Amino acid sequence: MKVLVIGSGGREHALVWKISQSPEVKKIYCAPGNGGIGEIAELVPVGAEQIERLADFAERENVDLTVVGPELPLTLGIVDLFRERGLKIFGPDREAAKLEGSKVFAKELLEECDVPTASFAIFAEAAPAKRYLFAQPVPCVIKAEGLAAGKGVQICATRQEAERAIDDILVDKVFGAAGERVVIEEFLRGEELSFMAITDGDHILPLASSQDHKRVFDGDRGPNTGGMGAYSPAPVLTPALHQRVLREILEPVLQGLNKRGIRYSGVLYAGLMITDEGPKVLEFNARFGDPECQPLMMRLKSDLVALFQATIEGKLDRAQVEWKEEYSVCVVLCANGYPGPYEKGKEIRGLERLKDWERGYVFHAGTSKSQGRFLTSGGRVLGVTALGRDVEQAVREVYRGVAQIHWEGMHYRKDIAYRAMIRDGA
Ligand code: AMP
Ligand code: GLY
Repeated sequence: MKVLVIGSGGREHALVWKISQSPEVKKIYCAPGNGGIGEIAELVPVGAEQIERLADFAERENVDLTVVGPELPLTLGIVDLFRERGLKIFGPDREAAKLEGSKVFAKELLEECDVPTASFAIFAEAAPAKRYLFAQPVPCVIKAEGLAAGKGVQICATRQEAERAIDDILVDKVFGAAGERVVIEEFLRGEELSFMAITDGDHILPLASSQDHKRVFDGDRGPNTGGMGAYSPAPVLTPALHQRVLREILEPVLQGLNKRGIRYSGVLYAGLMITDEGPKVLEFNARFGDPECQPLMMRLKSDLVALFQATIEGKLDRAQVEWKEEYSVCVVLCANGYPGPYEKGKEIRGLERLKDWERGYVFHAGTSKSQGRFLTSGGRVLGVTALGRDVEQAVREVYRGVAQIHWEGMHYRKDIAYRAMIRDGA
């Protein structure tokens, strides 16, 4: 069969890598892909948001299955469009993807279903938002309603800061239409956890647990990023907590969506805070996490394509998912300056030393290939990912890989998975 993967990040490289191991797959396309993906798939020069052109391509090339990596095409309705044209596609439709695309939609659904989440209020005007703020404790969290490329959430230490964040969103419209409304949220304390499941709308198949590191510097300091590293499994998720997340969060949310006539099919990713009172929802994503997907794919034993097909056919109850009983750790190497303005076009050296790496793989994110050389072309450039018997060994192995790679200005965190190491007593 022929598979098309949409997107251009480390997550999509991991998906393409895993899909390429499926016995049924004869050909993989990736639109638009990146330098590393081009080594194992045919790149299609169409952007992830050009959904009409992607559907034209899938039709013309008789693609049997399309897999959507990022959220933007989902919220633009790529799944609805492909289905209308009789094309098979994995991911939630436009209505279902609102769970990620609109924080107002998500919070209202959570409230309706009685799912634990930070207390909140929603405003379209700055004046009442600031009045509400006056009675709230700080820190508090100010969120733009829509997709803002990961920059729409501000944790504000003072009321002044929060007022500025409200003005940015509602008055100065720094996020454009994504800032029609703001959500003002209670600040939650605890440990964060990424809980991902595949669902066909009726059945939930939880994936292995994972955790990512959002801040750019060691010790979880500095600004938030898309993710500087990730690991799986996450020891914070005990079997008892796993059951609670299913019963108290995922099941009621799916039921709530079904009640609204929305059938959610695809990856449902709950960003959780494990508080003293139990797990609470920070946000939902309608896709695999990036970089969490990289360690997950490395641990996945089952055929990913079979899982996608079972989801599309609504037969997820018959599917099984098996994982390697090992740890996997991914360290993101990023460009100098990221998440602010950063340099591009630097030559990446040392990749050839990891070509036959037995216990790891280098997933590309912001890279391009030119005259046989890999160049940096994005903020997050590579996701070096490795396996180990325990977390300590996986960490040692992954940093052994990282040490082989170099470009001018390369930055990475040296403490990925430290929380798991502490829990492991390592
Ligand atoms: P979001 O895009 O909503 O996940 O927010 C991005 C990041 O901001 C999360 O991963 C958390 O680290 C942080 N965050 C969001 N909401 C809250 C909250 N209510 N309390 C504490 N931290 C939060
Ligand atoms: N790593 C967080 C995300 O994918 O949203």
